[in-house]
Amino acid sequence: MSVAYTSPSEIADLVKCVNKAAASFETAAAAPGDLHVARRRLQHEARKLLNSLEEPNGEVWPRTFQVNVSAAVEIVSQLKLWEKFEGGKEVSIAEIVELTEADEIIIIRIFRQLTASNLFVESIGPRGPSFALTSLGKPYLHSDHRAFNNFMFFDLIPSIMAMPKTLAEKRYKAPTKETGTPFKWAHGEELWTWLGSHPDRALNMVAGMTSHNPLDAYPWGVELGKLDLKDEDVAIVDIAGGQGHIMGEIRQRNPQIKGRFIVQDLPSTFEAVPTPPTGVDFMTYDIFTPQPVKDACVYHYRHIFHNWSDDDCTTILEQIVPLLKTQPRSKLLLVDVVLPDSNGTMQEAIMDISMFPMGGMERSESQWKLLLARSGLGIRKIWRGSEPEACIECQVE
Ligand SMILES: C[S@@+](CC[C@H](N)C(=O)[O-])C[C@H]1O[C@@H](n2cnc3c(N)ncnc32)[C@H](O)[C@@H]1O
Repeated sequence: MSVAYTSPSEIADLVKCVNKAAASFETAAAAPGDLHVARRRLQHEARKLLNSLEEPNGEVWPRTFQVNVSAAVEIVSQLKLWEKFEGGKEVSIAEIVELTEADEIIIIRIFRQLTASNLFVESIGPRGPSFALTSLGKPYLHSDHRAFNNFMFFDLIPSIMAMPKTLAEKRYKAPTKETGTPFKWAHGEELWTWLGSHPDRALNMVAGMTSHNPLDAYPWGVELGKLDLKDEDVAIVDIAGGQGHIMGEIRQRNPQIKGRFIVQDLPSTFEAVPTPPTGVDFMTYDIFTPQPVKDACVYHYRHIFHNWSDDDCTTILEQIVPLLKTQPRSKLLLVDVVLPDSNGTMQEAIMDISMFPMGGMERSESQWKLLLARSGLGIRKIWRGSEPEACIECQVE
């Protein structure tokens, strides 16, 4: 098969772009406010350069088999091995075999995949070949990241793998309320209903959701500080807030904020995680029914709208908009990805397709505007930080 390599002059141009981005990065390092943007730009240019150096045919196989990495991560979790690498410890194949009683050949093959994926680095220690975690492998020391891999691998990826077949059967029509979601096509019921009858999986999903939250898009302390909150006020209702991890963290980072923090979710979620974080109250609530907390200062939805179709989102908003109309001081914050109109990142594209099994999607700013307009809302401001999600502050139009 003939190979179309990138020409040396194109590569030289890409090197210039990397150097330019590297120079801006150096300048930004002195003024940390811009560092995040500069890092992303440098990463983007460096990736373009790396891609241009690849042998194009040679990438076809690794791309197809990306799922091998999630499978290998899962196997290391099942063998309860991640903790053995705490504190930068090197663990030899011999020790792993002793600990797990697995066949040595299985360990060699699984760790070969993870080393090639830059999660581990291999060296020769006193007991022969050994592994230690790299910076990309270290996140798995936290059980929430392992829960995320497990939830995606067993509960969502199968529906994504079925996409070509199911989409062909459905003649490439987007899922609707009537047809149900791809998860339902595969499992006979909707994801959230299914989780209700599988509490162990719900626990995993809830933990997995906490695996990515720098929470720096919205300046909670500053903005809530402006509201002159009293202890008896409801400061925030986090609707479908899972185990309350977001509110727990905002509370912890801003102990000066007065008022109650309420997290609402389905009973099955609270059965999985019965104790709310300190300073947070749990309340059972279905997002498709009238909102019982009438006078909250902030109504907050994080990673919710991307789970649902436009029609479902409109029904969810119907429960809130009447309250916003009668209480001008109440804010509505939607935390989700705001896709660029073109050239989305890998992370954005992955998040969008990952919503497919649930019948949801990530949206661009223009798609958000259209969606909100259906409920008489507009965008007051899009707050952005270092996380992939933005915080969309809405207003009644
Ligand atoms: C993707 S998780 C997001 C959780 C949390 N907001 C976060 O950012 O981590 C979606 C949440 O929606 C909840 N959920 C799904 N359907 C719901 C419904 N009808 N009413 C209330 N919560 C629901 C799920 O239980 C789950 O906790």
